[in-house]
Amino acid sequence: MSCVFLLGHSSTERVLLNMPQFEKATVHMKDPERVEQIICGLIKGGASKLQIITDFDMTLSKFAVGGKRCPTCHNIIDNCKLVTEECRAKLLQLKNKYYPIEIDPHLTMEEKYPFMVEWYFKSHTLLVEQRLERDKLAEVVRESDAALREGYEQFFDRLQQHDVPVFIFSAGLGDVLEEIIRQAGVYHPNVKVVSNFMDFDENGVLKGFKGELIHVYNKQDGALRNTEYFKQVKESCNIVLMGDSLGDLSMADGVSNVENILKIGFLNDKVEERLDKYLDSYDIVLVKDETLEVPNAILQKVL
Ligand code: TMP
Ligand code: MG
Repeated sequence: MSCVFLLGHSSTERVLLNMPQFEKATVHMKDPERVEQIICGLIKGGASKLQIITDFDMTLSKFAVGGKRCPTCHNIIDNCKLVTEECRAKLLQLKNKYYPIEIDPHLTMEEKYPFMVEWYFKSHTLLVEQRLERDKLAEVVRESDAALREGYEQFFDRLQQHDVPVFIFSAGLGDVLEEIIRQAGVYHPNVKVVSNFMDFDENGVLKGFKGELIHVYNKQDGALRNTEYFKQVKESCNIVLMGDSLGDLSMADGVSNVENILKIGFLNDKVEERLDKYLDSYDIVLVKDETLEVPNAILQKVL
């Protein structure tokens, strides 16, 4: 579908009107007309100009099912049988201290930054002490409550069919993340994962983490370290960015030639306190929406 065709219908607003998914109560937009314009730009560019840059935990994965929280990549390890009860208790203590800081609506990202470094340092140190074995990770993921958002098959399969580059940029655990999408059957060749990857010794025992740490509020640095990747996909100047944290907004900072960018934010927790800020930062805010229906509806128009 082209934009000319849409303009022929007198208004670009037709695009949103033609998407019943936008009528859901979960969908919030500060400026629907701007969203129309961006989607129109994406439609014009089509598959050859599109790329996806997305967070993983609580963006591609579910936040909660039936009121029960779903695990992050880290939580999958925290809860697994390879970790001692003592270590699990310590990891839980850390989560109880630092997660409220991660989502605190009254602190700036700069204020949260040192706390995130502290959380990751302490949490990763505990994991290394557990001497986790690489060969056990697949089973740990298989036995976990990992859940991808409703519509994930359609999301990944459509992007693969049209050869659209997908950059998953996660402050989670890369090895666990890759295993989740592999087991879900959606780790297609067009998907690139950048995350915290475990470093194993010659016996396959965890000894540390590779490269620079990626935490929730330093994704800009990670984005700039990946300019080589973004150069490879330089024709893809139209971006759909998806995240659940305000830190995810900088994930596209490594792209030098952005023509259109549509930012979709999942607001899962502390909704009332954070909605205004999310509406100021993300073009579309999906509140307590455990599905990929809206991104899928947009991709269906563009591809
Ligand atoms: P994301 O960038 O894919 O969303 O992954 C980061 C999430 O992982 C972020 O929400 C914080 C969370 N996290 C844990 O759940 N447990 C931990 O121990 C750490 C360090 C982070
Ligand atoms: Mg996240």
